[in-house]
Amino acid sequence: MQGQLDMEGALTARDRVGIQDFVLLDETTETAFLSNLKKRFGKDLIYTYIGTLLVSVNPYKELDIYNRKQMDVYMGVNFFELPPHIYALADTAYHTMLTEFNNHFILISGESGAGKTEASKKILQYYAVSCPSTTLLNTVRDKMLMSNPVLEAFGNAKTLKNDNSSRFGKYMDIQFDSQGDAVGGHILNYLLEKSRVVHQNHGERNFHIFYQLLDGGSDELLQRLGLERNSQHYNYLTQGECAIVSSINDKNDWKSVKNALQVIDFDAESTNHLLEVVASVLHLGNIQFDTDEKGHTCLNNNSELSWVSNLLGVDAKKLQEGFTFRKIEAKTEQVFSPFTVDHAIYVRDALAKAIYGQTFTWLVNRINESMENKDSSRKTVIGLLDIYGFEVFYVNSFEQFCINYCNEKLQQLFIQLTLKSEQEEYEAEGIEWEPVQFFNNKIICDLVEERHRGIISLLDEECLRPGDATDLTFLDRLEDKMGNHPHFVTHRLADKMTRKTLERGDFRLLHYAGEVTYCVVGFLDKNNNLLYRNIKDLICQSKNAIISECFSSMDTDNRRRPETVATQFKNSLMKLTEMLMAKEAWYIRCLKSNESKQPDQFDEALIRHQVKYLGLMEHLRVRRAGFAYRRKYEDFLKRYKPLCPATWPHWRGLPADGVELLVQHLGYLPDEYRMGRTKIFIRHPRTLYATEDAYERCKHELATRLQAKYKGYKAKGEFRKQKEAATKIETCWRGAQARKEKEKRAWAVKVIKKFIKAYMNRGQLKTTDNSEYLAFVRQSYLNRLKNSLPKTVLDKTTWLTPPAVMTEASGLLRKIHYRLMVRKYVRGVTPQRKAQLQLKVVTSSIFKGKKESYPKSIPQPFVDTRISDQDINMRILSMIRNEHIKYSVPVIKYDRNGFKPRPRQLILTQAAAYMVEEAKIKQRVAYSSLKGISVSNLTDDIIIIHVTREDPKQKGDLVFQCDHLFEFLTKLSVIAKKENVVKVVQGSIKFEIQPGKEGVVDFSTGQEPMAYKAKNGHLMVVATRARTR
Ligand SMILES: Nc1ncnc2c1ncn2[C@@H]1O[C@H](COP(=O)(O)OP(=O)(O)O)[C@@H](O)[C@H]1O
Ligand SMILES: [Mg+2]
Repeated sequence: MQGQLDMEGALTARDRVGIQDFVLLDETTETAFLSNLKKRFGKDLIYTYIGTLLVSVNPYKELDIYNRKQMDVYMGVNFFELPPHIYALADTAYHTMLTEFNNHFILISGESGAGKTEASKKILQYYAVSCPSTTLLNTVRDKMLMSNPVLEAFGNAKTLKNDNSSRFGKYMDIQFDSQGDAVGGHILNYLLEKSRVVHQNHGERNFHIFYQLLDGGSDELLQRLGLERNSQHYNYLTQGECAIVSSINDKNDWKSVKNALQVIDFDAESTNHLLEVVASVLHLGNIQFDTDEKGHTCLNNNSELSWVSNLLGVDAKKLQEGFTFRKIEAKTEQVFSPFTVDHAIYVRDALAKAIYGQTFTWLVNRINESMENKDSSRKTVIGLLDIYGFEVFYVNSFEQFCINYCNEKLQQLFIQLTLKSEQEEYEAEGIEWEPVQFFNNKIICDLVEERHRGIISLLDEECLRPGDATDLTFLDRLEDKMGNHPHFVTHRLADKMTRKTLERGDFRLLHYAGEVTYCVVGFLDKNNNLLYRNIKDLICQSKNAIISECFSSMDTDNRRRPETVATQFKNSLMKLTEMLMAKEAWYIRCLKSNESKQPDQFDEALIRHQVKYLGLMEHLRVRRAGFAYRRKYEDFLKRYKPLCPATWPHWRGLPADGVELLVQHLGYLPDEYRMGRTKIFIRHPRTLYATEDAYERCKHELATRLQAKYKGYKAKGEFRKQKEAATKIETCWRGAQARKEKEKRAWAVKVIKKFIKAYMNRGQLKTTDNSEYLAFVRQSYLNRLKNSLPKTVLDKTTWLTPPAVMTEASGLLRKIHYRLMVRKYVRGVTPQRKAQLQLKVVTSSIFKGKKESYPKSIPQPFVDTRISDQDINMRILSMIRNEHIKYSVPVIKYDRNGFKPRPRQLILTQAAAYMVEEAKIKQRVAYSSLKGISVSNLTDDIIIIHVTREDPKQKGDLVFQCDHLFEFLTKLSVIAKKENVVKVVQGSIKFEIQPGKEGVVDFSTGQEPMAYKAKNGHLMVVATRARTR
């Protein structure tokens, strides 16, 4: 719907004249067809479609429809959306090629002058503009475009039908790469009409190049080539008597040809050689012959001959010989047989034709070399076939026979590719179908080309057969063989009426395009295409590079006859047909509007005739009844499946079912399509274009989706890459770490091993093996020792056991440490404490190791006194004050007889010890009378003081208990200055109660300390057992 609107919108009123596609015509009559064509032609609308076939009518005037703007309008637009145009066809072929990636060809047909060559040029120009371009491609493109003027100069000529008639067949492949860039080209040429080089009909010209050279070449160039600037001077240019044609500007064309030669890589030398050949042909034409007195042929103009020999670089004398004698090799010797003048002319012309013909082929090869694409990547091609059109002249010869046979073949190809194959396809696909009748020209093709029976075979036979074969014997053979063929007539075979129109030397073929009468004269010669040996040998030695290249490649020694011209042509056409059959075809049918090359003249009869023989009506009928478009189910589904949810993204069932679903989803009406066996057939192009438009829209959506998917995919990839990188780094890092760790361990193992070994050898003297270990041991011992040194002098146990190596050092350190501690200690001791300690030393000397309670007493400090002066009775104090009280202590005194315990104060003065009870001095013991002091070795506190009695009244020894036994006794011995006065006694101690009367104190150990009078009258002292530490 959208497409249709666009289509309407694009149409201007002018474009809407008549009907643009004959398929839409109301009635399919020839009259309706022609009136539509005429209507449009009247408004300069020269293009009309029959489906996808383009009908073009030659306007014979420049139309402003081939400009850049028009090209832009048609680029990439659907075929039927715009008014018919050759650009639309070119563009559609191009885009189909790109999307389907296959090969195509455009068959341009029509009779001579119908506009085929122009059409092919328009297509080439369109591709040159519309394809993507780069500098490199531009040169290829320029070459493709520029090959045209060169080939036209050498291969085109003015004929009665066409002022620029192609006198050779041309098939050109344009090669595209997958991007759609035109990257190369290749040209195949078919059968140049060589006879034109030496002969032109009245009103016709030789090939353009001759006139261009004479008109446009510089004076200097002409002089060098020995030419005069006057075409009338040359026999080969004057026969048609129309060297000057109003529509042709030879001078300008010369310039374009010169320019084009440069573009297609012709250097000055090649160009020179080429022009030398052209000039030599003109000179050849001017060589005239006479008969000498012997009746032999001779040359009458040596200067022309020498120019030829100059230009071609061949020996003049031999050349002359070649023209006038025939060399016949008879067994051992060579015989020269002289020519007649006619024969000499024949030989001359044959040479001219041969060198021109070979040069033309050489030219095509050179152009192909320069357009060749050497890149081997896969390419698709669009072929342009512009071959000479059907031709009927007043006199038709071998050339017309070949040309018309060629057109017959192309018509056959067209029939096979369209009418026949189309109908066969409907049948094969089981599509209901009313067959359309059409004339199949196969019968004419067979007439010409059939093996052993066709005209070409018979012609070849005549050419090859020994004996006097002539053109007329050939005609006889034809009449014998073709006698009753419906498309073959001769004077002899014809009925009365027809006979009037036929000469005796003619035969007539009823071609598909009409009847053509051929004159057999020259058929054998032209078909033979023979050069005599001596001329050929001579030409092979040419110094002209082109000629020597062309002729030396022809196998001169091969005695076998070369293929005849007709057979060569037949074979090349077969090859062409085969090649084209493998490609997808597009058709342009060119119609000639009038015979007089006039603008705005619509010769209805002429056009009706062309419409008829081109089979356009049949084509139209098949098109109308048929389907514009067909596609294999698989292919159709593959392309359009995104348009239906049921078939996207995958259709699992039969392709046909998928397609059915798809088209129903798209809303195809029942009459718009048919389902064949393997293909879907779509009747109208518009249906397909609507689908294609929908697909285009859908593609954008899909692209977006794909893009998103792709972006996701890319991001994922990126992430994966990063992750991989991270892992890699991690691995590397771990590896590095592990290596470090390993090194560390290896080092550790070494160190540990060394240590173990050293440990085992620790007792040995210092060696290199254990020195480190020992150092370590020392260090660690010292470190440990530092933290665990004994804190007091008295602590003799806390000393870290040294390792063997440190035994001595440890001993020394220990000594130093103790000395240090002692020193510290000593420094910290006060004089009082010193005095006390000195007392303690005395105590020790008296009791150490002797009395059991001594160790317990050591920590108990001594005090100055145990009883302060206030606690001593004032009387006592006053009594002994002058003796100085040094120490007082409370004691328990035991009576000497009854051993009753009585608390007393014992006071030591400078001179004596006093036992005091309150205010009474009970006993005074002067130190001088102190005989001794006894204590037990046990833990008791009993002290016995022995005194010397000077006076009998004096009381006896003292027995008492003192809690501070050691303190008291030490002080006493110091004060009394009697160091050895104290005795530690084991067992009982005797004492004097009064002179002569002794008392005994017994000691024992028990649970409780006690002192009591035992039954034996002794004082029993029970000491507790000393606790051993
Ligand atoms: N599209 C066209 N527009 C204008 N003139 C044309 C067109 N096609 C052909 N002609 C005229 O017709 C002449 C013959 O056309 P050409 O293509 O050489 O014919 P063909 O190759 O079919 O023999 C051209 O020289 C030109 O003057
Ligand atoms: Mg042409």
